[in-house]
Formats: sequence, structure tokens, C-alpha cells
Amino acid sequence: MRLQGMLNLPPDKSITHRALLVGSIALGKTRIINPLISEDTLTSLKIIEQLGVTVYKTPQEIIIDGKGFSNPKSVLELLDCANSGTTARLLMGLLTGLPYEYTLVGDASLSKRPMQRVQFPLSALGGRIILTNDEYLPARILPAEVIASKINLNTSSAQVKSAVMLAALKSNEETVVNLPSSSRNHTELMLEYFGADITYTDKLIRISGKYLLEGRNVYIPGDISSASFFIVAAVIIPDSEIILANCGLNPTRTGILRVLEQIGAHYEILNLRTLNNELIGDLLIRYTPNLQPFTIGGDLIPLLIDEIPILALLATQIEGTSIIKDAQEARIKESDRLKNTYLNLKKLGCHIEESENGLIITGKSKLQANLVDSFCDHRLSMMLKIAKLLNPNIEILNADCDKISYPNFVEDLSKLVK
Ligand code: S3P
Repeated sequence: MRLQGMLNLPPDKSITHRALLVGSIALGKTRIINPLISEDTLTSLKIIEQLGVTVYKTPQEIIIDGKGFSNPKSVLELLDCANSGTTARLLMGLLTGLPYEYTLVGDASLSKRPMQRVQFPLSALGGRIILTNDEYLPARILPAEVIASKINLNTSSAQVKSAVMLAALKSNEETVVNLPSSSRNHTELMLEYFGADITYTDKLIRISGKYLLEGRNVYIPGDISSASFFIVAAVIIPDSEIILANCGLNPTRTGILRVLEQIGAHYEILNLRTLNNELIGDLLIRYTPNLQPFTIGGDLIPLLIDEIPILALLATQIEGTSIIKDAQEARIKESDRLKNTYLNLKKLGCHIEESENGLIITGKSKLQANLVDSFCDHRLSMMLKIAKLLNPNIEILNADCDKISYPNFVEDLSKLVK
């Protein structure tokens, strides 16, 4: 068995969420070409419709008839963010500074994820958000007026800085945001593309609402986080060679390529181009024998934060000890991804230790058959399906949650497996 052929990746989840939300507050039509249709992005779509935004859907496009900030209306019913942290956190910023009250709720997993990290900086901008037990959803967003301010963020969460930017758009004065390190910058790129008054570097954003956003055509590139499962499979399974077409290659997302360089794996970028401010290319990945172990930590972590489970599986297939550190953020995703990756890979017979902020893995391990569990976390469920390629007798519980970000994962994987 090997992986062979070319695949069109599913569109990027983070960029689709942003196109929906930014399009809904712009003036005029926004055409989202090649949007990701998955549970998480449908959650954002449903909420902007509840907020009174007119949306037209065709199989290939979503068209949003944006009417600017005057558009979001008073909504008495709950806004259900389901499993989607990006929807909840970005919406808190989008709805801060409006003259109405809104209530955001989420599913059991999202209702356990921290929200104070968004509430704090939004309060500094004049926002008024009441969290359950001072930390969780349900959250009430009260009417408020945004006052431009200087904000020092102590987390490198892209969701938090995005919420701050979306709130800051409601003041004509400049808000300055200092950031501890680089993280995915899709919101900065998209706001710039929609004509906002914004300048940014990895660690500093200046933004105001002086210029109105104008509807645009947005093409959504393939999602490198979804690609990561095939990348790892192709690198470790002998004789594999795949091309992942139209992959988003924004440098704030390509931490996994830095890992490929560390381990000495073969990859090439073809047809590199820029579309609506985002870098896109085709990724060629080839099986490489004698891979070297890797160490990742520090500022690299936000650039591969969703890839930790699949990188842990990669480490089990490399001779020597690989170290993942400074990754405590992975504990507060759709599940505790350090703990659950540890529990699953341990059950498969791997040499793995869990530390406070990471994992230490010594390979190379022949995976043993056992019953493992995704804990309803899509990134774990897809990682475990790649593990199953290495041992078909592995059984996976709660295996259907791929649909959060990648509804066709199983079909696409089977297209590549020869
Ligand atoms: C995302 C940011 C990351 C990432 C999540 C999507 C985004 O979360 O893990 O899957 O679209 O902004 P944090 O901002 O909490 O790091």
C-alpha cells in the first residue's frame, strides 16, 4: 500500500469563517468562491443569516449581500456556535460595539473552552461581555460603544487578535495591538483586501474603522491543516508520492513544512501564486527513508498548532526521540490534544511521554492493534485514520467527527491510497 496521485484539498476552514464574517459587515456583494462547507463553517453561515444578512448559496459559491455594520439586527434567539471556537470568538468581536444584546451558546465541548482571553481585551475596548462562571459560554454580549485603545495581548491566539480587530473596526480612532508572536494572519490579510484602515507586522497591528469595508471576490485556498494528514502519510509510507493542489501556503500556517525540513523529508512547492492576499501553491510530497527526529517549540508552535496530533504520529515512525514543547495551547482545543494524543498512541504501543506542555516520543514503533478514541475531536479522528493505514486492525471510536472540518476525508484518503 502507498499513497499516489493528485488531490484537490478541501478549502481552508479559517479563511472561510473570515470570509463569511467579514463579508457580512462589508458593503456590497462578497463572492466566496470555493468555500469550505463543513459543520463548523455552516455554523458561522447560519449565524450571519440569523443576524439578518442575506446569503445566496450555489454548489461552488456563497454570495453575501453585505450592508455594513448597520446590518446586524437585534436577535432574541440564541446564537449557537456549536463546536466552533473560531465562530464564537470572532463573533464576540464582531458583535461588540453594537446597540443590541446577543447571547452566544455552544455544544458541550465549546462550553468548556476558555473565553476570558477574548472578553478581557474586548473590555479594554469598551465591550461588555458576561461569561458563565466568568470564563465560559453561554456569553451575553451587551450593547456597548467601542473606544479605540492600546492592547497588549499575552496570547498568540489568532482568534483573540481577530476578535480585537473586528471590534476595533467600530471606532474611527486607531487601535494598536501588540502581540507576543506570529500567528495565522488571515484576518489581517482579509481586512486589508476588503479596504480596511490596517497595517500589521507579526507583532503589531494598527487598525481603525475609518474606511468602510467593500464586498470582494474571495477565493478560498486548500487547507494546509487538512493537508497535514496526507503529508505525514506520504512521507512515512514507502513508495508514496502525492500532489496536493491549491494548498494555502501562508507562512503563518506552514510550520509543518519547517518540520519536514528538520526531518529531511522531500517536498516541493509548485505553481506558487497569490490570490486575495493569500499565498497558494501545489505541494508535492514524496516518501523519504531515514527521517531524522524533530524538536518543535517556541514561536513555531502557533504556526502548526492544529497539526500537533498528526506530528506526534509522525514522530512514532522516526528512529530516535522527537520533542514537542511549549504546546500547552493544544490542551484547550476541541479536546485536550496532548492528553488524548498521548492516551491513543500509548494504546497503540508507542513510546510516548506527556509533559505539562508537550510530548516526548521515541520511535520507530510498529503500531499495535487496539481500540482508540477520537474523543469527538476531528483532528484526532483523522490522525487515527492515518494510524489505521499502518495497522488496519486498529479500531476507532467516535470516528465520524471529521465532518467538523473535512466531511470528505475518508473518500479523499481512499482516492490517494493505491
Ligand atoms: C484558528 C486559530 C487557532 C486554531 C483554530 C483556528 C482561527 O486557534 O487552533 O483551529 O481560525 O483563528 P487559537 O486562535 O485559539 O490559537
